[in-house]
Parts: sequence; C-alpha cells; structure tokens
Amino acid sequence: MTKSYVEVKNKRVLLIGGAGFIGHNLALELRALGAEVTVADGFHVNSLLNLATEPDESQDMFIYQDFLYERINLLRTSGVNLVILDAANRYEVGKLLSQGFDVVYLLAAVSHASRSNLRPVLAIENGLMPFTNVVTELSTHSNTRLVYMSSSTVYGHFTKDAVDENDSCKPYGIYALLKHVSEQILEETALYSELNFSVVRPSALYGERCISRRVSQIFLENAFAGRDLIFMGDENEKLDFTYIRDLVQGLILCGFHPRAQSEIFNITFGDAQPVLRLCDILKDFFPNIDVQVKERNQATPIRGTLLNDKARELIGFSPEWSLERGYRNYINWYVNRSKQQKMIFNSISQFNE
Ligand SMILES: NC(=O)c1ccc[n+]([C@@H]2O[C@H](COP(=O)([O-])OP(=O)(O)OC[C@H]3O[C@@H](n4cnc5c(N)ncnc54)[C@H](O)[C@@H]3O)[C@@H](O)[C@H]2O)c1
Repeated sequence: MTKSYVEVKNKRVLLIGGAGFIGHNLALELRALGAEVTVADGFHVNSLLNLATEPDESQDMFIYQDFLYERINLLRTSGVNLVILDAANRYEVGKLLSQGFDVVYLLAAVSHASRSNLRPVLAIENGLMPFTNVVTELSTHSNTRLVYMSSSTVYGHFTKDAVDENDSCKPYGIYALLKHVSEQILEETALYSELNFSVVRPSALYGERCISRRVSQIFLENAFAGRDLIFMGDENEKLDFTYIRDLVQGLILCGFHPRAQSEIFNITFGDAQPVLRLCDILKDFFPNIDVQVKERNQATPIRGTLLNDKARELIGFSPEWSLERGYRNYINWYVNRSKQQKMIFNSISQFNE
C-alpha cells in the first residue's frame, strides 16, 4: 500500500493518541513514506495501563497486551519517536507543540460511544480537554495542519440510505456530541484565527491489532473460539465498513493536501453492507458457526453509507478495500498469527458497536 499520494518525505508529523489502533497504523505508513514521525500517547485509555488495572478491561488481557506490545515494537523498529503524554495537560501539550510540526493528528479520545456514555467525565478529560489544548496552541500556527478525528456518529440516526457532508447532523450521546461540538469549534475558530484544520469522519473501521471489540472483531474472535455469533442489532442493519488501510490513505491526504484545509470529509469505503454479511464471509473460514440476532443494544446510531465523493473529487481519495477483500485480509491476519502464537479468546463481550 506504500505509494506517495502527496509529498510526505521529511515532513514532521505528530500523532497525539498515536499508539491507538488508528494512530499506530497511520504512523507506520507515514514512516514508510519517509516522514519524521512522533507518537505521543498516555497509554491509559483502551491501552496498556487501563488494561492492566481495570477489571472489566482485562477479559482478554493477555492477547490484547500482545497486540499492544506488537504495536510498540513495530513503531520502535520503524524509527517512530515515542513520547508519553497526557494530552489533557495544557503545559505538556504546549511544550510538545513548540517543537514545530507540519501536521498534527489529534486521535486521543475515549473512542467508544458506549464507554463514553458510561463515563462522560473520562470522555471529556481525554477528548475535549486535549482538543482544547491543541486548538489553543495551533490557532496561531498557520503552517501546521491539524487533522481532527471525528466520527460517523455525528449524523445521528440516518433517515436515508446514504449521507454526505452537507447533510444535517443530529448527534446524541456524549461521544457524538463531543465530536460534533469540536467540529463546530474548529470551523468557528478558523474564521477568526490562523487555525489550519481538516476533519475526518470515518465509519466502522476494522484491521490489524485493533483491541476495540467492534462488531467485526467480536464476530471474528468468537468464530475463532468456536462460539455462536450474536448480533445485537437489526437484521437488515448496514454499516459502511472501512478497512484501516483505506482510512490511512485518507488521513494522509487530509494532512498534506492543500485542498483539505478547512474541510470536513467522510473518509469511508462508501458502500454500506449488511452487518450480517460479516458472518457469511466468516463461514468461508469457519463453516460451523451459528448466528443469532437479538434485540438491539447499541449506543451508536443506525447508519448506512457515508458518501465519499467530496474526498474523491477534492483530494483524490481512492479507497481500495471492499468488505469482501478487506475482511478476508483481516481474518487471514488472525489465522496466520495463530499459527505462530497461541491465541485463546476466553470471554469476548457481546456488547457491540
Ligand atoms: N476506530 C474507529 O472505528 C473510529 C471511528 C470513528 C472515529 N474514531 C476516532 O478516531 C480516534 C482514534 O481512534 P482509535 O480507534 O485509534 O482509538 P484507540 O482507543 O485505539 O486510541 C486512542 C488512543 O488515545 C490515547 N489517549 C486517550 N486519551 C489520551 C490523553 N489524554 N493523552 C494522550 N493520549 C490519550 C489512548 O491511550 C489510545 O492509545 C478517536 O478520536 C476515535 O474517536 C475511531
């Protein structure tokens, strides 16, 4: 996948919350393209520290610890500069940003709608406070592009099959509200300051070394463990599943393309598929799995396709990984990994989003 979409070589890039699922995959690709990359992370949300200390996070502690250590090993061996940072700390953020970066990706957050609802203060501390700190610093740095990670949940429940960036947003729940208010603050601040920003709205991501237990991962791990797949959603529900490699391509374009400035983009595969299609694909690998559909219990809205025409036309985004292809690649990654390392999934939560 390493091809140069824009000029990235020798650019100085900072990823705040960059040891997470999206961040480490993005950092590795940026390094492959020749950027100087710094990953700053507190390792305390959906990461090593909370996994070690919070009982409800520890169900599959050992296997997810392996994934997390593998992320760190990959980052270190590829030459990424790793920094421990609590981005809620205004002084620490200021000190780091004073080093000067061409692009800053703000990825830090409590990245689950369900967990954000359960612990709203934690979501504010690790989402809104880092956001405020970074925007305050960068509002006077017109040469630094800030890429903010928003979410498909800002649209709220879809009232039609497909939405684009001009459609109205009706977010609910603390996660989507924080994302949407941050988008609005960025737009307003840029009108009256030198803030140079771009916003990315991804959807239903999946890919290597994810520990977030979204539906694509829960199904795969349950199939692996020989358990039934239980979908707590509507039978015909669709999601715009997007493979991490396509998102990374879009994130790089939003970080470096001149026409991405002050724009909001859906960065998705752009073709929602039934969630239960995941089970059909899994049956090619695990023929004996059974599927049950139960009452919907999700904190996320009913969604569909997030049209990506704007990103295609304005910045040349060109996603390559359909669910059929991407999910098989992801499944094969587990299968191949299990041949080299023991992978036992003890208790996989069925709480999906
Ligand atoms: N994964 C998805 O499907 C998805 C979809 C839409 C949007 N997003 C957004 O993209 C961003 C990244 O998502 P992800 O899947 O990589 O999440 P993740 O949970 O894997 O990574 C988030 C990282 O941020 C770090 N972090 C949290 N608070 C911090 C703080 N105060 N200081 C420093 N680091 C901190 C965590 O330690 C973690 O490593 C989030 O903002 C998320 O809301 C993710």
